[in-house]
Amino acid sequence: MSNKIQDLQDRRQKIEAGGGPERMERQHQSGKLTARERINLLFDADTFVELDAFVKHRSTNFGMEKVHAAAEGVVTGYGYVDGRVVYAYAQDFTVIGGSLGEMHAAKIVKVQEYAMKVGAPVVGLNDSGGARIQEGVDALSGYAKIFYNNTISSGVIPQITAIMGPCAGGAVYSPALTDFIFMVEDSAKMFITGPEVIKAVTGEDVTAEKLGGAKTHNSVSGVAHFRGSTDEEVISEIRRLLGFLPSNNLEIAPGRDMGEIREHIASLDTIIPESPNRAYDMYAIIEALVDNGDYMEYQKYYATNMITCFARIGGQSVGIIANQPRVMAGCLDVNASDKAARFVRTCDAFNIPMLTLVDVPGFLPGTDQEFNGIIRHGAKLLYAYSEATVPMVTMIVRKAYGGAYIAMCCKELGSDMVLAWPTAEIAVMGASGAANIIFRKDIKESADPEATRQDKIAEYEAGFANPYKAAERGYVDDVIVPSESRLRLIDAFRMLASKQAEKPRKKHGNIPV
Ligand code: HXC
Repeated sequence: MSNKIQDLQDRRQKIEAGGGPERMERQHQSGKLTARERINLLFDADTFVELDAFVKHRSTNFGMEKVHAAAEGVVTGYGYVDGRVVYAYAQDFTVIGGSLGEMHAAKIVKVQEYAMKVGAPVVGLNDSGGARIQEGVDALSGYAKIFYNNTISSGVIPQITAIMGPCAGGAVYSPALTDFIFMVEDSAKMFITGPEVIKAVTGEDVTAEKLGGAKTHNSVSGVAHFRGSTDEEVISEIRRLLGFLPSNNLEIAPGRDMGEIREHIASLDTIIPESPNRAYDMYAIIEALVDNGDYMEYQKYYATNMITCFARIGGQSVGIIANQPRVMAGCLDVNASDKAARFVRTCDAFNIPMLTLVDVPGFLPGTDQEFNGIIRHGAKLLYAYSEATVPMVTMIVRKAYGGAYIAMCCKELGSDMVLAWPTAEIAVMGASGAANIIFRKDIKESADPEATRQDKIAEYEAGFANPYKAAERGYVDDVIVPSESRLRLIDAFRMLASKQAEKPRKKHGNIPV
């Protein structure tokens, strides 16, 4: 008996040694933690339970029958994050470069299926040379099964991926199918075709970092949602993100202590500048409204004219979608529409109520936007809000013009409560543009066209650049004192907590993609 137990312990020890001390040392020297170190940081202390440690590959190609691959190059299992079950896999770059073969994939697939069965999130820590070249089509089959499970799990359990090393070729598509992608600066590289292939095919010179590093995918392509400077930072942020999410689509996110109510926040009464063309910082409003001033930004570096973040109001998770007047005057463009639409669908899928903060002068004009499909991309935002069933509160703080007023969740798209500050201007367009069109004749025929133009702008502003026309029709539920906003939001979300909404049954909708 004791021999058998000793044998088990020896086997485990060999598996836990991964690719051996030299490769682990190389991993550390390149600024990366090992798969097991990452897993231990992800979970509450001593809660990780490993599965399938003894799984072996079955390849005999190119001498593979002689290759020992500890844990098949991927550590898989479950554990607890803040006391809740989470499944995870971590690819071990020290074992055949973390490459994915048939059995490596089977281990990931098993974790995905367990997580679906029990309704728990899956976290994937990716660090891999991609398809295990020696295994050929078996490796591709493995990827395909993972992609399929990613898709079937979408909207059922949260799926989070961290790119902590190379992630090249078709391997990028598992992360791309998940809800959230984190990247570690300097270590992570994500691309379909690497610099050498690009050089050979197009003649372009580009470094791997510029092509697929954390900065590129967080600020240029919009592929990734979060980045951090070290493995430790990224894993700690994954734990933080999980705290804003429920375990699955049938639950709600865990509540937290809301901190102070802060009934009166004086700074909000003066934050909107007198001049409609002056910018201010929407982050200051968000910070004032949310519990303990704490929020976690989604796609912080991408389409910065739109802010999307998780926070808590009254102790419960909310998703916030807000225009940022400091960037491009907060107007909607292709990227901002995509960013917000994806975030709205993420929140709705996981029962996270939404707060939309509006200060939007319209959609961005120009051939660049039209040629890039602002019609198609803007439609995604309208679609995402219209199909959402979670509690939705809209607060219009300044401009809400034209189609962009609608796209930022007006009442008819499904907002349950529209609040406006007295500084709100809800109209088809800004006063200057409107006056030029509807008073064109008066201006043209006037003895002093410029003076007449200014008079007409003032006339339009007095009549329409306020929230009261919309409130008269009930499009705005109430006009509120800005300093009372937090109190009103806590109350609104509490009142809406029991909201039930049914939509017509269908196979699935056809969101413009
Ligand atoms: C088998 C691999 C491997 C792979 C790396 N290794 N990638 N073995 N299949 N895909 C092995 C190496 O042979 C080496 O083994 C060990 O892992 C570490 O790799 P190094 O090259 O020494 O590491 P490094 O210098 O850090 O370079 C890392 C790398 C490079 C940039 C990832 O290994 C690389 O270019 N690998 C191939 C990448 C690739 O083309 N993958 C296929 C992508 S296409 P030893 O024994 O020497 O330590 C794809 C299709 C998926 O993935 C399709 C899905 C639909």
